[in-house]
Amino acid sequence: MTAPAGDERDETDPYARIAEWYDVEHDSFTDDFELYLELLGGETRRLAILEVGSGSGRLLAALASAGYVATGVEPSAAMRARHAQRMAALPEAVARRASVVAGSATALNLPADQRFDVALLAQGVFGHLLRAEQRAAALAALRSHLRPNARLIVDVDLAGPRRLLESAGRLWLQGAWPTSQRLEIVEHLVVGEPGATPGVVEVTHLYDTHEQGGAVRRTLTRTPLALLSRGEVALAIQHAGYDIESLYGGYDMAPADDASARLIAVARCSSLPAEPSA
Ligand SMILES: C[S@@+](CC[C@H](N)C(=O)[O-])C[C@H]1O[C@@H](n2cnc3c(N)ncnc32)[C@H](O)[C@@H]1O
Repeated sequence: MTAPAGDERDETDPYARIAEWYDVEHDSFTDDFELYLELLGGETRRLAILEVGSGSGRLLAALASAGYVATGVEPSAAMRARHAQRMAALPEAVARRASVVAGSATALNLPADQRFDVALLAQGVFGHLLRAEQRAAALAALRSHLRPNARLIVDVDLAGPRRLLESAGRLWLQGAWPTSQRLEIVEHLVVGEPGATPGVVEVTHLYDTHEQGGAVRRTLTRTPLALLSRGEVALAIQHAGYDIESLYGGYDMAPADDASARLIAVARCSSLPAEPSA
């Protein structure tokens, strides 16, 4: 992977050194997008969608290609740079429908009067919010940018962070993918350890690139992740002033239960005013 010009990589951003590998791993993943299309299917194509933690624009590009107007908020400059590259490869009329701003879940950095019909927290972004107060603040910030009756969709990995904590110190292979370099592959391994604060697991990601039988180049990054339960996520959403419509346990829309590895919560902005946050 080439470092940014002048090696201006942000050492505080865990995605700065792995943005390229993130895309190699996730670009072909479409299960969540297919679920979102299904959930939005009956509604007009001109819905305005906000994705918080939009990364390199994997979902924004797919949503824009399907006709939606999709805005992302993303803190990582490296991921936003990849978003720009992705959009440059799309037809102009599609790319115009997908934009991204520098911001975070608790500081959205959007014009005060901008409103959306749907908000997405996809692919574990909610787990990057480590404290309950941060998650509450993020849901409240989002709500102030949603139209009445707008939809909120939160996709959370419940089992992954817990499994990494329970097997602390042991390596797990996530998978291997061909990179854009001829004959080169990248392997993604993860290992967990207890985080500095309760309810958090510190995840170390190792991305190993090599040709068959060739020397290995290892890139390492760390992401702390919140350990979340189905009840905790559902309560946080309700307390922030949303009405839960459905709790799915996976992209196949099976109802969530105690054994569910994921939670996909679908909620609406309730008609009642949100409770003031403490
Ligand atoms: C697992 S990636 C998901 C990217 C994208 N949503 C997707 O589905 O491909 C998590 C993203 O969340 C972003 N992120 C981390 N902390 C965040 C925060 N506090 N607010 C918003 N986004 C955050 C990261 O920079 C990263 O791009």
